Amino acid sequence: MWKKIFGTVKKETSTDLYDQIDQKRLPAHIAIIMDGNGRWAQNKGLMRTFGHKAGVDTLKKILKAAIKLNVKVLTVYAFSTENWKRPHKEVDFLMALFAEYLEREINEMDEDNVKIQFLGRLDELPTTLYGQIENAQTRTKSNTGVQFNVAVNYGSRDEITRSVKIIAQKVLDQKLPVTEITEEIIDDNLYTGGQVPVDLVIRTSGDLRMSNFLLWQAAYAEFWFTKVNWPDFTPDCFFQAVLDFQNRDRRFGGLSEK
Ligand code: FPP
Repeated sequence: MWKKIFGTVKKETSTDLYDQIDQKRLPAHIAIIMDGNGRWAQNKGLMRTFGHKAGVDTLKKILKAAIKLNVKVLTVYAFSTENWKRPHKEVDFLMALFAEYLEREINEMDEDNVKIQFLGRLDELPTTLYGQIENAQTRTKSNTGVQFNVAVNYGSRDEITRSVKIIAQKVLDQKLPVTEITEEIIDDNLYTGGQVPVDLVIRTSGDLRMSNFLLWQAAYAEFWFTKVNWPDFTPDCFFQAVLDFQNRDRRFGGLSEK
């Protein structure tokens, strides 16, 4: 039977929605495609950059909501390997915004016991941002709360290719027989190596695609789409997505347990 594609958020307070969530059946890994910053700004007659700035405020609120829920991993898509095609000015603005975000938020994230990790070709980023990323990762690496992954200069096919190259080199060096290559080894050599697979993918702003994001990790993920643009996405939307996830029948290729 055809079900509605876009999630809607019930008009209840955050506390109501949060209280309805079954803590025993939380998605362990939630991944978000934060789309629609540009459209949000343009709808208001503003420059696209205003949308990105507003998007940072939303990200802060959603990270807090993930901490409150105690999800294991939250991964957000901040900049793809394809986003370099945008006008120089917008790219420069985004790089500066990521740096500013880290500088401003790192103390609070550390206090909140968040472990931050960046996924992607980080050595191609501006040097100052790269340095800040390394500091933030080192500083929070022993934290035991939410694992917060920020995908920057990230592409899933690129990540899988990189994993294959690492494994091929081990085969060439005669450290790994071809017959011993397993899904687990491919998984371990992704940026997310050692982390749990994605349970729930949320995409804002109405588009229904994956955009080269966590293709391997999200093989059995549930999807939650909303027409809401990222700057308008609220903790209520986030809790509603989790509630809807808890009503899905996940079979992983097997038969329903219901
Ligand atoms: C999508 O909007 C968003 C991005 C390209 C990523 C930028 C994300 C943020 C600034 C949020 C905060 C992130 C961090 C890490 C601080 P879009 O420009 O694609 O919107 P459009 O589809 O309406 O053009």
